[in-house]
Amino acid sequence: MTFAQLARLAGTPSATELPAAELRPAAGSGPIARLRRVSRTYGAGAAAVPALRDIDLALARGGFTVIAGPSGSGKSTLLQLIGALDRPDAGGSVEIDGTPLDTLDDDARADFRARRLGFVFQNFNLLPVLTALENVEYPMQLAGGSAAARRDRARQLLAEVGLAGKEDRRPGELSGGQRQRVAIARALANQPALVLADEPTANLDRATGAEIIALMRRMQRQLGTSFVFSSHDAQLMSRADVLVALVDGRIAGAQP
Ligand SMILES: Nc1ncnc2c1ncn2[C@@H]1O[C@H](COP(=O)(O)OP(=O)(O)O)[C@@H](O)[C@H]1O
Ligand SMILES: [Mg+2]
Repeated sequence: MTFAQLARLAGTPSATELPAAELRPAAGSGPIARLRRVSRTYGAGAAAVPALRDIDLALARGGFTVIAGPSGSGKSTLLQLIGALDRPDAGGSVEIDGTPLDTLDDDARADFRARRLGFVFQNFNLLPVLTALENVEYPMQLAGGSAAARRDRARQLLAEVGLAGKEDRRPGELSGGQRQRVAIARALANQPALVLADEPTANLDRATGAEIIALMRRMQRQLGTSFVFSSHDAQLMSRADVLVALVDGRIAGAQP
């Protein structure tokens, strides 16, 4: 299978489908994420489900933010809006890393996601036919550079997340915690401004979950990358700089 085919499977544009290399947008200095009057309603009429209601939020650059709340409170919906995977109802706006997302068409949004954002999922979402090293190299196809440089960076990232020596294992030959470490290395591959993680510890036991959060915390401090993750685990919420509590699609409280 070619990388382009894998990319299509993974829903990410492959290098050949992207416009010619452009300069990476200058890193802004304002908040990494700013949401104004954001609502998101699924469906319409009598079947309408208001998942988010009138959210105003600004997240400081370089922070470690947890979005907390019970199941159904709107955490995934909020992360999808911040991750340029979905759009708010009319009247709301989302600005990420200084870019107003409503100015981007679908192709530009895909490009923005690939270059500026990293994603970590509850189910890891690694490509099963690729080794750990190949999974980390794969998004770097977008950024260009030599194959050797990509390989070096992937090795370095895997070492950073504690997987030196496991480069050639496929996901099926790794534990859940190790898979999530690969996913974190992959999310960091293109030096994103922001990494989004939707309940990254939900499929891990408590101790492993705590290790994964500690790892994300270390990467955030070391690289200055902003992290936003969702959780309903109190143990993890206590590790955040900023806690955004959602109840029924509304912000019930934010700290500090
Ligand atoms: N695609 C969808 N279609 C209809 N309703 C949805 C959809 N996705 C989520 N919802 C509803 O929106 C609300 C918020 O969901 P979600 O953002 O997934 O919450 P959480 O991630 O906190 O569990 C819930 O009531 C959920 O049932
Ligand atoms: Mg969810």
